[in-house]
Amino acid sequence: MKALVYHGPGKKSWEEKPKPIIMEPTDAVVKIFKTTICGTDLHIMKGDLPAVTDGRIIGHEGVGIIEEVGDSVSNFKKGDHVIISCITSCGKCEYCKKAMYSHCEKGGWILGNLIDGTQAEYVRIPYADNSLYPIPAGADEEALVMLSDILPTGFECGVLNGKVKPGDTIAIVGAGPIGMAALLTAQFYTPAEIIMIDMDDNRLNVAKTFGATHVINSGKEDAVAKVMSLTHNKGVDTAIEAVGVAATFELCEKIVGAGAHIANIGVHGKSVTLHLETLWSQNITITTRLVDTVTTPMLFKTVQSGKLDPKKLITHRFRLDQIIEAYDTFEHAAKEKALKVILTN
Ligand SMILES: NC(=O)c1ccc[n+]([C@@H]2O[C@H](COP(=O)([O-])OP(=O)(O)OC[C@H]3O[C@@H](n4cnc5c(N)ncnc54)[C@H](O)[C@@H]3O)[C@@H](O)[C@H]2O)c1
Ligand SMILES: [Zn+2]
Ligand SMILES: [Zn+2]
Repeated sequence: MKALVYHGPGKKSWEEKPKPIIMEPTDAVVKIFKTTICGTDLHIMKGDLPAVTDGRIIGHEGVGIIEEVGDSVSNFKKGDHVIISCITSCGKCEYCKKAMYSHCEKGGWILGNLIDGTQAEYVRIPYADNSLYPIPAGADEEALVMLSDILPTGFECGVLNGKVKPGDTIAIVGAGPIGMAALLTAQFYTPAEIIMIDMDDNRLNVAKTFGATHVINSGKEDAVAKVMSLTHNKGVDTAIEAVGVAATFELCEKIVGAGAHIANIGVHGKSVTLHLETLWSQNITITTRLVDTVTTPMLFKTVQSGKLDPKKLITHRFRLDQIIEAYDTFEHAAKEKALKVILTN
């Protein structure tokens, strides 16, 4: 089969790899129908995630059709359409029992990281019963790709950890797909003001149509001064970091008010400066989280009912064998006016 293979920082190729096979009775092999590229894949390509080694097939999002299941898989059979969760979970270990699937002793975020991932014609999914979700007939499968990672990530790591409440003023730093997923799902809780901060005018304009009440281009204006003027010098109740660089985490530290939450989502490859000299007295909570995907079934219902429309995050469509071009588009998102790119096998 063909797959997108990582060969060290900055190096990737679309090449021939062996088709995956069932290795454990709890495995399924899934034929990829649609997949996508995540900001995390760009971090991998930058070399921010050294656990990803030369030869790895990357990608951790997608929908597909079950090709084969191991003997002990009972929820799925050949031919079933499924959402692949970016998090693999056994459902039985101490962490799974606490609904912290991200730290499953046998899984967690392994797909496209420690084991081969979804940017391929086929993928092996360990613990298939707990790591795949069924797609009912007639569902919009393209929209459901957003349930693999970005919707649960924006919601769990950003909105839930950030304790967004009715009437709050929140800021989301980063208007990529993850920041946009936080923007869409924050509105379950009707915050009064949502300030979106990025350096990409196109993404900021899209954010306005998705419900942002204010947008700030931090490359062109002083984001701290603007947030302070919008909040009558009080700062925001929640700052969600959805980029993964020091500058944006440090921006969150500067725009939070007393009692606020800083909810980090970004994958960080470098250290950041923690300004405890200004924050120690401000009753601030800082949270970090690897997405658990425990809210996937709930989010699935909001998508199916039309309350949430993640399809509007998709801006570009490619064939799977055009994936190098798709990376180029996603890497140059501002120029290409790109959000989520969809690859169809
Ligand atoms: N915690 C988790 O479980 C988890 C899961 C998935 C993704 N992530 C991370 O979430 C982050 C966002 O992912 P994405 O897919 O939206 O990525 P993306 O690269 O598409 O978006 C990042 C956005 O940040 C903006 N940006 C970059 N530098 C900036 C700066 N200095 N100031 C303001 N804006 C800036 C870019 O213009 C872009 O719009 C990444 O770090 C990704 O690795 C975390
Ligand atoms: Zn991801
Ligand atoms: Zn487990």
